[in-house]
Amino acid sequence: MKFFIDTANLNEIKEAYDLGVLDGVTTNPSLMAKEGISGDENVINHYKAICNIVDANVSAEVIATDFEGIIKEGMELAKLDDKIVVKVPMIKDGIKAIKYFSSEGIRTNCTLVFSAGQAILAAKAGASYLSPFIGRLDDIGFDGLDLIGQIVHIYQNYGYETEVLAASVRHTMHLIKCAELGADVVTCPLKVITSLLNHPLTDKGLAQFLADHAKANK
Ligand code: E4P
Repeated sequence: MKFFIDTANLNEIKEAYDLGVLDGVTTNPSLMAKEGISGDENVINHYKAICNIVDANVSAEVIATDFEGIIKEGMELAKLDDKIVVKVPMIKDGIKAIKYFSSEGIRTNCTLVFSAGQAILAAKAGASYLSPFIGRLDDIGFDGLDLIGQIVHIYQNYGYETEVLAASVRHTMHLIKCAELGADVVTCPLKVITSLLNHPLTDKGLAQFLADHAKANK
């Protein structure tokens, strides 16, 4: 399973990349705004800065919601760096744009996915990645993980090449369950990745090993 980090924060991206287990970065307009990035030029420069940190793919989301606008914006983003994957919302013009990008060899990430029907459409349009949002489904009383299992099953039935990129991952159990269900990728905040390190028995065991070593080598 691939790990993507879901942030536009350059320090967090660097920290995750330095860990050696990062396979990609996802951003969205809210994450860019959170870092105070605004204005076309600053946004473009920020994507370039992210691409300079990682040797991994970087999802950059379009703001346009009409076909022509999505194509124009997506082409500009794709030209920035070979690492860029154009992130397109799950709307009618988005699906048409994904089909177009796919025929042009431009990779896409279909975002804001909340149902299996949407997942089928995106795969048929040739999306490279599909982003079902687990946490946001949980927030409204649906089981986001059920959707991941359903989509993985459907994609296996038909051999769709679209990779299931579980998004809106809020905690380590989301990540571990996604691995059990066969999601190709998870994207999550840095703290979800680093939380995987933690176990009290590891800390206790290490303290004991170091204490025993110190006693024996006095
Ligand atoms: C996915 O690409 C989105 O950026 C993200 O995972 C959304 O997560 P949230 O629901 O925690 O905002």
